[in-house]
Amino acid sequence: MIEKKEVGEKAVEYVKDGMVVGLGTGSTVYYFISKLGQLVQQGLSIKGVPTSKHTEKLAIELGIPLVSFNEIEQIDVAIDGADEVDPDLNLIKGGGGALLREKIIAKAAKTFIIVADSHKNVDTLGTFPLPIEVVPYGFEMTVKHIREIGGSPMLRQKDGLPFLTDNGNYVIDSRFQEIKHPKELEKNLNLIPGVVDNGLFVGLADAVITIMDKKLVTKVR
Ligand code: A5P
Repeated sequence: MIEKKEVGEKAVEYVKDGMVVGLGTGSTVYYFISKLGQLVQQGLSIKGVPTSKHTEKLAIELGIPLVSFNEIEQIDVAIDGADEVDPDLNLIKGGGGALLREKIIAKAAKTFIIVADSHKNVDTLGTFPLPIEVVPYGFEMTVKHIREIGGSPMLRQKDGLPFLTDNGNYVIDSRFQEIKHPKELEKNLNLIPGVVDNGLFVGLADAVITIMDKKLVTKVR
């Protein structure tokens, strides 16, 4: 908790007056959004674009003004969490199920910053099961194809029913052992009919604020 707060709050340094800010999802970026809310109360003028309904609700509660895509040209900076971060700043995301909106916003952002506690740093991606968003129609076939390319897919459930994303889709969590070639796997998964996107974020993060050897560090790509 202390690490999450430390890295989350540090990320406000990337936000300047007048910016459009992508607001991530999860328990680490929560601290960034809370701090941002305080700065807005003190007069900082920014507009937020939330990556999930959950974050949208939080931002509204904190008084952070929101904008939709048809009102903006670009996102200046997006701040988000991650489930795993490798030494090249490639990521696994989607533990909270918001990976599609997160990737749309990360890609639209001029600068994409990750906040991650020390447990998220790995040598090779793949210990955390990779979240894959799929359309409900024919998902049994989609699962079969994921297995054919080396995955061990499981349908994410909530209260005994398939978990639904904010986009009305399912999430398949799939282990792939070690993911040595994340870009290739990201592309191959997205070629499967029924896959909307997956939680591999390759070459997107510009910097990762994290803790190493008990010290706050910012790793830059
Ligand atoms: C949400 O879908 C995810 O991508 C989160 O950003 C990721 O799971 C990290 O969440 P925590 O900060 O809660 O660990």
